[in-house]
Amino acid sequence: MTCMWLSTVTGGILALFVSLKIFFPYFWEDLVFFLKRKRLKSMIKKRAKNGILSVIDLFMHRVGKIPHKPFLIYEGNVHTYEDVDRRSNRVAQVFLHYGALKKGDTVALLMGNGPDFIHVWFGLAKLGCVVAFLNFNVRSRSLLHCCNICAAKAVVIGEDCLGSIETEFIFHLLENNVNVWVMSTSSPFQHVGTILDKLDKVPDHPVPSHLRAVNNGRCTAMYIFTSGSTGFPKAAIITHLRALSACLAFIQCGATSQDIMYLTLPLYHISASLLGVGGCIELGATCVLKKKFSASQFWNDCRKYNATMFLYIGELCRYLCNQPSKEGDRVHKVRIALGNGIRPAVWKEFLMRFGPIKIFEFYGSTEGNVGFFNYTNKIGAVGRAGIFSKFLHSFELLKYDISKEELMKDKHGRCKKARIGEPGLLVTLVTQEAPFSGYVGNNEASEKKLLHNVFVKGDVYFNTGDLLVMDGNGFLYFTDRVGDTFRWKGENVATVEVAEIIGMMDFIQEVNVYGVNIKNCEGRIGMAAVVLKPDQAFDGERLYKHLVDFLPSYARPRFVRIMDAMQITSTFKHQKMHLVNEGFNPEIISEPLYFLHEPSCSYILLTREIYKNVASGEICL
Ligand SMILES: *[C@@H]1O[C@H](CO)[C@@H](O)[C@H](O)[C@H]1NC(C)=O
Ligand SMILES: *[C@@H]1O[C@H](CO)[C@@H](O)[C@H](O)[C@H]1NC(C)=O
Repeated sequence: MTCMWLSTVTGGILALFVSLKIFFPYFWEDLVFFLKRKRLKSMIKKRAKNGILSVIDLFMHRVGKIPHKPFLIYEGNVHTYEDVDRRSNRVAQVFLHYGALKKGDTVALLMGNGPDFIHVWFGLAKLGCVVAFLNFNVRSRSLLHCCNICAAKAVVIGEDCLGSIETEFIFHLLENNVNVWVMSTSSPFQHVGTILDKLDKVPDHPVPSHLRAVNNGRCTAMYIFTSGSTGFPKAAIITHLRALSACLAFIQCGATSQDIMYLTLPLYHISASLLGVGGCIELGATCVLKKKFSASQFWNDCRKYNATMFLYIGELCRYLCNQPSKEGDRVHKVRIALGNGIRPAVWKEFLMRFGPIKIFEFYGSTEGNVGFFNYTNKIGAVGRAGIFSKFLHSFELLKYDISKEELMKDKHGRCKKARIGEPGLLVTLVTQEAPFSGYVGNNEASEKKLLHNVFVKGDVYFNTGDLLVMDGNGFLYFTDRVGDTFRWKGENVATVEVAEIIGMMDFIQEVNVYGVNIKNCEGRIGMAAVVLKPDQAFDGERLYKHLVDFLPSYARPRFVRIMDAMQITSTFKHQKMHLVNEGFNPEIISEPLYFLHEPSCSYILLTREIYKNVASGEICL
């Protein structure tokens, strides 16, 4: 009897496992991920009860536990957790004595990567100031705008940025009663304070702790500027809660306190400051910080410092793959890479070349209210909508009309969901748990990112501006940015996909695909700007053959522009706007241009003659 009962139960369990495997092949991975996220969320809550409500609280907690552990390694110098604590105390003391800053004031930082970036950041946080990280690559008019919208009371300028600063910028700040400080012993400007000479004159003990105390995790901790493709940068509001969650990214990849991070991304970017530096604090790990990314030094540094993990964005991994192969390419200790923007082809090449590194590609934006995360072994996917993900955050892919650049609606004005396998606009439900904090000083821009009455009256969604596809198993794939995808002959062309296919050619190093306008033609026609590999020639015939094999005719770029180098943004993304505007006119463009010529089954040089005939409509495309 018992025996029969037992075998029934065993059989039942077995059947359950088998059907789970068939119908929910990712059940266990989904469950583990869900539980992990839940645990981390409740950890943040529990810590808040113990007084850890901000990144600086977390840092102080670590200083208490592991004061002598190396925290930063920069140009060979080791700064322990205690060292950084002490020096940031001094920065706080200088501002307390000379700075006339109050708790809650916003202070903008214009500094390059280096330990002092972190000392100033932490020093200000200890005074309860809100920090705003400025991108030192943008022009001074843009910088002024940034200081204005976040209502900065003071600006701290790093010594390394002084050289490129325009005097006018300083004058305008002073005129607006903004205090200006330089991280230097003397100042080339009048009425500008110096910090370095004062650090030795103040004590290194802590400023009163009530200054940094946070009552509510939803208060603003920092502003991070997002580089929109048009207009001025916008300041995304990062709350303390959001900042603390961002610090957890590396833990979710299985990193531990033994890991050593190699950080080459600019610190004013949320990825480097919170996922990177914040991630090390969370782990109690060491961060090897670099002034700037260098593809040729990358692996030597990783070997030298025994680095075990790094952060990437955009095309960074491609630049590593573009370096000449070396025998010791696989000799290193790196095991984790976290980031976003790696293309599937680069991903595969990267793994073949540099060995079994776990790549965690995530999807998220500075100002967005959700992120997806790859926790299964699926190359190309940016994340997964698992069985349990609905409990973590709610998102939808909405049907989108690319030619009109608007959402498709039903007769009641409600949005429709994109079908499986069909690109849709990713939107995420805004709730108490997943709030959208918006941009400071720019209600219009904040409101523009929100969609109201999407499915029912009164609902609010955050518009990510990205088109994604979900497959039958719930994996999400990035298709394109809204606005990058264009329409030609009534078909949608996703620039990312076309670039992927062109990038498979062995003579091509880098590709940037976009659509250009032609007079009297509806939509935009495809064009590709490419950088050739060193010592390689453009082979129009092979490219033609390859594209015919892989792409439908409407998606094949009609024009190819050969470039010496691709311009990238400070976040390693390709710039498209100026290429779109320059179009394909050989009178304007001095670089070689090619034209897809079907009769010759090849790409041929685009002469002025051909250009004239295309422009006049004599050559019909
Ligand atoms: C890296 O690891 C090796 C072996 O584990 C050790 O001998 C070496 O000192 C380490 N280097 C650094 C910079 O920590
Ligand atoms: C997902 O993560 C696994 C490791 O857990 C990695 O092997 C795989 O390449 C990653 N894929 C994507 C698309 O992120």
